[in-house]
Amino acid sequence: MQTFRDYMDSALYDPERGYYSRRTPTQDFYTAPELHPAFAGVLAREIARRLDALAEEGVPGPYSITEMGSGSGRLAAELLRSLRQNFPRWADTVRYVLVERSRTALLDSVLALSSSAHVVGYTRLEEVLPGPGVFLSNELVDAFPVHLLEKRDGSLYEVYVEESGRTLLSDLSAEELRPFAEEIAPALSEGERHAVNLEALRWLKLVGEKLRSGFVITIDYGRRMAGAPNPPRTFFRHTTDFRLTEGKGFKDITASVDFDALISEGARLGLTVDAYETLGRFLIEGGIQDYLPEGMDTAAIRARGQVKTLLHPDGMGEAFKVLIQRKSAPASAI
Ligand SMILES: C[S@@+](CC[C@H](N)C(=O)[O-])C[C@H]1O[C@@H](n2cnc3c(N)ncnc32)[C@H](O)[C@@H]1O
Repeated sequence: MQTFRDYMDSALYDPERGYYSRRTPTQDFYTAPELHPAFAGVLAREIARRLDALAEEGVPGPYSITEMGSGSGRLAAELLRSLRQNFPRWADTVRYVLVERSRTALLDSVLALSSSAHVVGYTRLEEVLPGPGVFLSNELVDAFPVHLLEKRDGSLYEVYVEESGRTLLSDLSAEELRPFAEEIAPALSEGERHAVNLEALRWLKLVGEKLRSGFVITIDYGRRMAGAPNPPRTFFRHTTDFRLTEGKGFKDITASVDFDALISEGARLGLTVDAYETLGRFLIEGGIQDYLPEGMDTAAIRARGQVKTLLHPDGMGEAFKVLIQRKSAPASAI
């Protein structure tokens, strides 16, 4: 028997049987960079603006863009292309660092990008050298394995999974979970479940250590939960359900991101909130219309439909959020 957290870790990341070792992009869900390159275009503009700000403040370079959970490398490729086209100053000087847990995906994407100068890859954020710049992730935090709590007979337990996939309840596996259990208990009804993403907090701490000065851009689905229950779910062929331990390795398992947790943990670590908004608003304010194809041919019409999914409240526009946190170096370090 293992904790649900360990079950989810192996269901997603087992090097041979894990979901992410064999995911076919777009088969079960679309990520924003898989939908349309306009997403990367707006991000490239935002990142260039942030790097300009660091340079104007006199933060010494060279700067890095560190993309964590880079998957197939699609976002990296589009972002670098957009930087080369529109912001050559940064395309020529910035180091692009890919961090991807799947070794195969990392190798493939580093190889595909090897014609771009200054691209390096790591499987673990721990290996990345500290420095100034931008730390970026799209749909990484929702993919971290979560501990699962459930209310039964008025008390809170942790969910464990047997070899057969059957779940059972027992005591909390770590003392670290207790404050989360105590906080969520009054909000949970009988039989209701709640995900605790300890990994997200550890990750943010590490990002805060690696980023000497600059910005953390986190894009993901979720919201400021304000203490509301957050049950994980699965994705398979664009449908979602709550049968978390069926079809191990064939379904994505995910929990919405609690941006309150990232914001309050960030504040403790010296990361201040620069922006928090919906993806739709971020893309519109970032000028996504500049990246839209014109014309009435089939490709242009299809592209506009894809961008509409990124923007529309019923698509990704409202469910996804963009959090930009700032870390300032102490004045003595500039
Ligand atoms: C939902 S996919 C998103 C991929 C890509 N960012 C995109 O938007 O298309 C999540 C990715 O994060 C990677 N990942 C999960 N945990 C990670 C970790 N601790 N370090 C690096 N990558 C991780 C997974 O292997 C997977 O490729």
